[in-house]
Amino acid sequence: MNQTPEGPRYHEPVMAEEVIELFRPVGSGLVIDATFGGGGHSRRLLEALGDDIRILGLDRDPEAVAEGSAMDPRVEVVNRNYRELAEVLRERNVASAAGALFDLGVSGHQVEEGTRGFSYQRRGPLDMRMGPDAPWTADDIVNHWTESELAGVIRSFGEERFSARVAAAIVAARPIEDTLHLAEVVKAAIPAAARRSGGHPARRTFQAIRIAVNEELEALSEGLEAAITHLRPGGRCVVISYHSLEDRIVKRRFVAGARGCVCPPDFPVCVCDRPAELRLLARKPVRPSAEETGSNPRARSARLRAAEKVAA
Ligand SMILES: C[S@@+](CC[C@H](N)C(=O)[O-])C[C@H]1O[C@@H](n2cnc3c(N)ncnc32)[C@H](O)[C@@H]1O
Repeated sequence: MNQTPEGPRYHEPVMAEEVIELFRPVGSGLVIDATFGGGGHSRRLLEALGDDIRILGLDRDPEAVAEGSAMDPRVEVVNRNYRELAEVLRERNVASAAGALFDLGVSGHQVEEGTRGFSYQRRGPLDMRMGPDAPWTADDIVNHWTESELAGVIRSFGEERFSARVAAAIVAARPIEDTLHLAEVVKAAIPAAARRSGGHPARRTFQAIRIAVNEELEALSEGLEAAITHLRPGGRCVVISYHSLEDRIVKRRFVAGARGCVCPPDFPVCVCDRPAELRLLARKPVRPSAEETGSNPRARSARLRAAEKVAA
């Protein structure tokens, strides 16, 4: 963990300058930090945007919430999954927000803490739950799901070309004891020639299992929908994703919102007359600077997309 003059740094916020500049025009009001983590982005937003903004932070990890709650009187952090965002806002009588930020995935803190089981480089239990609300653990999937279910998860959520081989190797090696045992089994299942490219051979399988454990893609679709619905006109939604499956969901939702029309593509003219609800703030995803990826390896795969709510 990095050190700062104030103490250990929980998580270095990714593309913080870009996030600040995207939220600067909203001026005042409530900004939802849907993935509060160590509060790195929230802290930077409060410093840059001043007293006119308040933050409602959500995190499904109780540890993140415990760290963040005492941060600043302008901040409230709740231990909730962002897929429940609409409910969280209703409970607080919040009708609309000035902004919503999603910085997806796991924090550096969660990965580095081997006891959570997210890392293929540290020995830990087969857990991978971001919070106690997750429906199952990595152990359930790795040691109890059928070979075809396992192969499906690894193929769909890890985009692993050798998903069938990896699933067969896992089933043959059961019971898998811990994260390093799993990483070893996966590595041995990948042909030697393919191991030389694409980073650690277990990276894609670990990503797949984590996504399945936490139902991450379903949560993202639902959370994003709630955030867009609750933005006031001129309010902005900013999403930082770390792999193509997340980015695809964000891109499709933003593009659909900017298009408005929901008629089937083979209709010669629009009959739905649905107006656009979003304006894209960039056509292509924004990537971090070389300087940032040099100093913060976590930023390397980051892609940022942003959209603004337009008047109905
Ligand atoms: C990349 S970290 C965020 C770091 C934060 N932006 C910062 O600067 O400190 C992602 C955080 O989102 C949380 N998270 C992931 N999925 C979530 C969900 N569906 N609902 C609420 N929190 C979630 C994780 O527990 C983790 O703490």
